[in-house]
Formats: sequence, C-alpha cells, structure tokens
Amino acid sequence: MNIRKGTIEDLEGVYTLYKKVSKIEGGIARFEDEVTKEYVEEFMKNSLDDGIFIVAEKDGTIAGEIHGYKIGLRVFDHVLSNITIVVSPDFQREGIGKKIFLKLIEEGKKIEGVSRMELIARESNKKALKFYESLGFEIEGKMRQKIKNSKDEFEADIIMGIIF
Ligand SMILES: CC(C)(COP(=O)(O)OP(=O)(O)OC[C@H]1O[C@@H](n2cnc3c(N)ncnc32)[C@H](O)[C@@H]1OP(=O)(O)O)[C@@H](O)C(=O)NCCC(=O)NCCS
Repeated sequence: MNIRKGTIEDLEGVYTLYKKVSKIEGGIARFEDEVTKEYVEEFMKNSLDDGIFIVAEKDGTIAGEIHGYKIGLRVFDHVLSNITIVVSPDFQREGIGKKIFLKLIEEGKKIEGVSRMELIARESNKKALKFYESLGFEIEGKMRQKIKNSKDEFEADIIMGIIF
C-alpha cells in the first residue's frame, strides 16, 4: 500500500471510491446520486489550494482518501475544516483509515498557524466516532435532527474537534 499526497490526476479514482462508499448508507452524508464528479473535483481543488489531500493506493486503485481544507475566512485561518475520510468497503478494517488519518494530522500540524481540526459524523456511525476519539478528537456538540435517512428517520450529527 502506498500513502501519498493526492493530485488532480486522482479525480477518476477518488470519484469511483466515493461512488462505492456512498452505496452503503450510514457513512458519508451524500446519497450515491449526490456523489458527482463536480462534488469530488471541488473538494479536491479546495484541499489542494488550501488544505490537505491524501490517498492510499492499493494494487493500482485508490483504496482510501482523506481531505480537509480551510474555509477561507481569516477568523478561521487556523482551522482545518470539512475533514472527510473514506476507505473502500473492500479494504476496511485493515488499518488504512488510521494510516491516512495520522498522515493528515502530521501534515496539518506542518501548516503554519493551524491549531484546530474539525469534522462531523452522524450519531449512528459508531465505528467512525470511536475511531476519531482514538485519534484524540473530542465530541464538542450535537446537531439534533440534522440527518434524515432514506427511511425518513432523523438522527443527530456530532461535531468533533482536536486542538494543538
Ligand atoms: C470509518 C472508516 C474511514 C474507517 O476506516 P478503516 O480503514 O476501516 O479503519 P481502520 O482499519 O484504520 O480502523 C481504525 C479504527 O476505527 C475503528 N473501527 C473501524 N472499523 C470498525 C468497525 N467495523 N467496528 C468498530 N470499530 C471500527 C476502530 O477503532 C479501529 O481501530 P482498531 O482496529 O485499532 O480497533 C471506514 O470504515 C469508512 O470509510 N466508512 C465509510 C465512510 C465513513 O463512514 N466515513 C466517515 C464519515 S464521518
């Protein structure tokens, strides 16, 4: 497995990965039809411009991806936001998520002035919440009734952050 910084050339591979992950409800917020090339291209560009974009490659395919970026306001210049991580269902629970997240934290700490990283995960995504806590993220709040799933059931989104 090769963990490296992503480039714009990874668009197709990352798009394919997000399509696959979004087929399983309960992980990323988007439904499969909401994962478009435009969406993927936008977060890739934002992360390349003012953030971090990392991929894990396995046997020539993108098996995992993580990104985060600054949202552009000066008051938030120390914050790496919109952190999203996905690992292909074919390769989950093999340690890829942990490796790429640790790489994001390592690279994030190198960005001058960055002292906070933040993300959001749905309350039912217990494996992700446990995973983020194991990396040092703390639960900071709860947005009640923020998610409505495909069965029209509501659930909360959990705000998590880590400061350095
Ligand atoms: C969450 C996700 C990124 C984890 O990636 P992964 O490569 O499977 O994770 P790792 O193998 O590195 O495991 C890291 C830790 O996550 C937790 N974890 C991962 N899968 C788990 C599971 N099925 N059940 C419980 N805990 C789990 C554990 O704490 C694990 O550490 P451990 O193996 O030392 O116990 C991956 O499951 C995924 O992409 N899920 C779908 C998309 C998603 O939910 N993204 C996050 C949106 S907020």
